[in-house]
Amino acid sequence: MVIIMTSLTPKELLTTTRAVRKRLDLEKPVEIELVKKCIEIAQQAPSASNRQNWHFLIITDQYLKNSLSDLFQKGWQSYIDSPTSVAKTMNSDDPKKSKTQRRIYESAKYLVDNLKNVPVFVIPCVEGRTDGSNVSVVVQSAIWGSIAPAVWNFMLAARLHGLGTTWTSFHLRFEKDASELLKIPYEKVMQVALLPVAYYKGSSFKPAPRDPVDKIIHVNTW
Ligand SMILES: Cc1cc2nc3c(=O)[nH]c(=O)nc-3n(C[C@H](O)[C@H](O)[C@H](O)COP(=O)(O)O)c2cc1C
Repeated sequence: MVIIMTSLTPKELLTTTRAVRKRLDLEKPVEIELVKKCIEIAQQAPSASNRQNWHFLIITDQYLKNSLSDLFQKGWQSYIDSPTSVAKTMNSDDPKKSKTQRRIYESAKYLVDNLKNVPVFVIPCVEGRTDGSNVSVVVQSAIWGSIAPAVWNFMLAARLHGLGTTWTSFHLRFEKDASELLKIPYEKVMQVALLPVAYYKGSSFKPAPRDPVDKIIHVNTW
């Protein structure tokens, strides 16, 4: 039976939908029907020219989950040494920031080590690719802008139904391998994320620390 958690206010939903990793319940099965319901909600997102050129792979097969987890692990290894890695910001001058970044590192590593045991993976895809040369900003915006809101809608819907998710991208370093494995037509369709999906343990998620809003607002001119 599908249970909808109606006790969240819209503001709570929007401010407490977190990247859930350590609190994913790896023991409790997730009903495919529930995942489909969340995808139906994802479909209410906007898309450029209303093309709705999105696809969602639901993966429950253990062999496929193991293979994707191996790619995820390899992706983590190459990410962690890269300049943009969270590991590079764990020792900043700001102790609060360092603490937050260390927590994210540990949480991300936990997911790497436990991914194959997550009940369901969802891989959102979009028709079109942005990694070729000469893809204009307009086209890039149309492609990514037509899938990112749908993914976030999915994550919000999942939270409403008691499911935790995290937007992850480590496996995309080996996207072609993953496409072959999943029979996705790589030349025409781009994977954008891998969302581990499981019931979350406990229900108390809080708003996250963020930079002061004035740091990012520019009124009229930059
Ligand atoms: C585009 C994108 C890629 C991400 N890739 C990963 C990833 O590969 N692995 C992971 O554990 N988290 C990943 N995250 C989750 C972020 O680490 C997380 O959103 C961020 O630390 C803020 O935490 P919060 O969502 O709980 O506020 C990604 C998030 C985004 C938006």
